[in-house]
Amino acid sequence: MTDPVPISDTDINDALRRLRSGGLVAFPTETVYGLGADALKPGAVNRVYELKQRPRTNPLIVHVSDAAAAADLVRGWPREAELLARAFWPGPLTIVLPRSERVPDIVTAGGPNVALRCPDHPVALALLRAYEGPLVGPSANPSGGLSPTTADHVREAFNPEDVFVLDGGPCRVGVESTVVLLDEAPRVLRPGVIGADEIARVLGVPVATGAQRKGERLHAPGQLETHYAPQSPASLYDTDQELARLLEQAPGHAVIITENPRRLPTPPDSLVQMPRDARAYASRLYAALRDADALEPSLIAIHRPAPMAGTSPEDMAIWAAVLDRLTRATS
Ligand code: TXA
Ligand code: MG
Repeated sequence: MTDPVPISDTDINDALRRLRSGGLVAFPTETVYGLGADALKPGAVNRVYELKQRPRTNPLIVHVSDAAAAADLVRGWPREAELLARAFWPGPLTIVLPRSERVPDIVTAGGPNVALRCPDHPVALALLRAYEGPLVGPSANPSGGLSPTTADHVREAFNPEDVFVLDGGPCRVGVESTVVLLDEAPRVLRPGVIGADEIARVLGVPVATGAQRKGERLHAPGQLETHYAPQSPASLYDTDQELARLLEQAPGHAVIITENPRRLPTPPDSLVQMPRDARAYASRLYAALRDADALEPSLIAIHRPAPMAGTSPEDMAIWAAVLDRLTRATS
C-alpha cells in the first residue's frame, strides 16, 4: 500500500483532466489494464462501450478507492461485503451488490446490480484517490479479444486521442479479478486468483461456482460471450497423440504453448515456453497468447496445464482461473 507510484504527477494530472472532461484513461491494475471513465458520467461511459465495441448487455465494473466509496454506490453495504473488502481489498476481487440510484443505468446495462472493485496497484489507487470519484474499468481491449497486461497492448488497440494511457509496467496477476455475487447464496460468476474456497472461509458460508442452473436469474450476462480469444484458431491438448492429431488437421505454421519442458514428439514451428509455477503462468498468459497470435499461425496448440497432486489450494484457484481463460480462448 505504500509502494511508490511509478508514474509522474504530470501524467496523473493529465489523466485527471481527461476524466473530468468526459474522456478515457487506460490505467494499470494488478490484474489487467482497465479502460477508465467517470462512472457517474453516462456520456463518458457510453464512449467506453463504443470504443470497445462492447455489447450494451454486458455491464461494467466500477473501480473505487476503498470500501467507503463502494458503500456509496449500493443500496446497502452488508456485513458480507465488509468482510470481503477487509480480507481482499485492495485486490483482485469484484463484489456484485444491488446498486443505488447514483449509478447510471448504462454502467449496469440496465440491471439491478453493480460490480465493485478496489484494485491493488499504486497507479490505479493514486488515480482513484486524486479523482475522488468512481471509474468504470473494463479491460482495455476491443470486446472479445485478449485482455491487455502491458501499456503497449493498450496502445496497439486505441488511438492516443481517444485514450490516454498511464504506463505502470506489466500487470502482476495477469488474469481478471474474481467476480462474486453477494446474494442469499453467494456465487462466483467469474473465477480469478482468489478462489471460491477462500471467499467461503471468510464468509463462513458455502460459495457456489460455475454457470447458473436452468431457470435461475441471469446474473453475469457478459460471461456468455466468447471472450479472451486470440485471432488465430486455438486448441487445447492433453496428450502427445492429441497434439499430433491437431497438427495434422491444421497444416501450416503451428505455435505450441506449453509449461511442460520435456522434448515434444513433433518439433513445432514455434514454441512458447510457459512457467510451471501457477502465479508466473497466469501473469504471462495473455502476453504469450498475443505473441503466438502475432505470428499469424494456422494453429495455436496449448497444452492444458495439469496441476500436480499436492498443489496448494491457492495455486489450485489460480490454475482454475487460467483454465477458465484457456477454455474460452479455444472455444
Ligand atoms: O480484473 C478486472 O476485473 C479488470 C480490471 C481492469 O479491473 N476488469 C475487467 O472488466 O475484467 P471487464 O469489463 O472486462 O469484465 C467485467 C466482468 C464481465 O464478465 C461482466 O459481465 C461482469 O464483470 N460484470 C460487470 N458488472 C456486473 C454486474 N452488475 N453483475 C454481474 N456481472 C457483472
Ligand atoms: Mg474484459
